[in-house]
Formats: sequence, C-alpha cells, structure tokens
Amino acid sequence: MVYPIVMYGDPVLRKKAKDIVKGEMDVKAFAEDMFETMAAAHGIGLAAPQIGKSIRFFVVDGTVLEEKPELKDFRKIFINPIILEETGEEWDFEEGCLSIPNIREDVWRQERIRIRYFDENWVQHEEEFDDMKARIIQHEYDHIEGKLFIDYLTPLKKKILKGKLADISKGDVDTEYRILAPLRK
Ligand code: NI
Repeated sequence: MVYPIVMYGDPVLRKKAKDIVKGEMDVKAFAEDMFETMAAAHGIGLAAPQIGKSIRFFVVDGTVLEEKPELKDFRKIFINPIILEETGEEWDFEEGCLSIPNIREDVWRQERIRIRYFDENWVQHEEEFDDMKARIIQHEYDHIEGKLFIDYLTPLKKKILKGKLADISKGDVDTEYRILAPLRK
C-alpha cells in the first residue's frame, strides 16, 4: 500500500518516535508498505513518521542510484535503531527530503557511524557505515528523533526558505507523489 507523505509542519515530524515492541505489529508487511511508498516517490530513504507513524522504523534503498555503484546492495530495514557513535571528518552534501519537496541544501555530517538495530526478523545487528550510506542513515535517523535537515541551516538560510516552507505546509507544492499537508484548506 502506498501512503501519502506527510509534509513539513505536521507535528508528527517533530516527535521523538517510540520503540516498536516485538509482536505488536507486522513489521514485514509494514516494511513492504514503506518500500512501496518510497519507490512511488523516488526516495532513497523513508522514515515511519513521514507516513504519520511515530515509531522507530526506517527503510533505505540506494540501489536506484546508478551513479553510486557503492550503493548497489544498499537496501535495508532499520527497526529500533540506535546510533552508537559518529566519527570522522564532517563533509557536506546537498540533501533533500520527501517531506520538504523541492528544497535542497548543503548539510554537514560526520563521515562514519556505528549503529545497532533489528532487522525484519528481529535479529539484532551492529554495523558500521560510511560516506553516502552513513549520510542516508543519519538523515533517516534524524526523522525518528524529530529532526529535519533544514534544522542544520544557518538562521539566514532558514529565513530565506520561510515562505517556501509555509507553502509546503499548506500543500501548495508540486510533487509527483501523494502528500498530506497539515495546513491544507
Ligand atoms: Ni527526509
């Protein structure tokens, strides 16, 4: 099932999401819906709050980026993840977000992370990721912490974007996917 994507301004994007208790939901079915919704919107990552569910769950799929061969197997599900450590130099990259359409800005993040999470079979993993893989995970992890990439911008940049963000909250934005805008009249 393809869900509409929640737009900037919805309080669910600002909540710290809750851990999932094993058995309380069908995580495999939910992962399928998440992958389907992400693919329909041509995203490379999607966190549960972006479809209105405040739970610690996100999916990533970098396999669609042909220009990034290092991501060719990078299709994963992260349940109840905890970033244990972030290391390395900060580097900048232009990020976007399905909940903030048509805005892209440079964000600085550290290059390497160590993360503990469960997969869809409730097997626990502890792994390291770097470069683009780390960045995609960091961006999605922020979502379940109630954080957005625009939070990293300078006050001036935020001021410049204010009007566009207000339009997004009203649903006054062009997307090729279905959206749910909190202030749509
Ligand atoms: Ni995002």
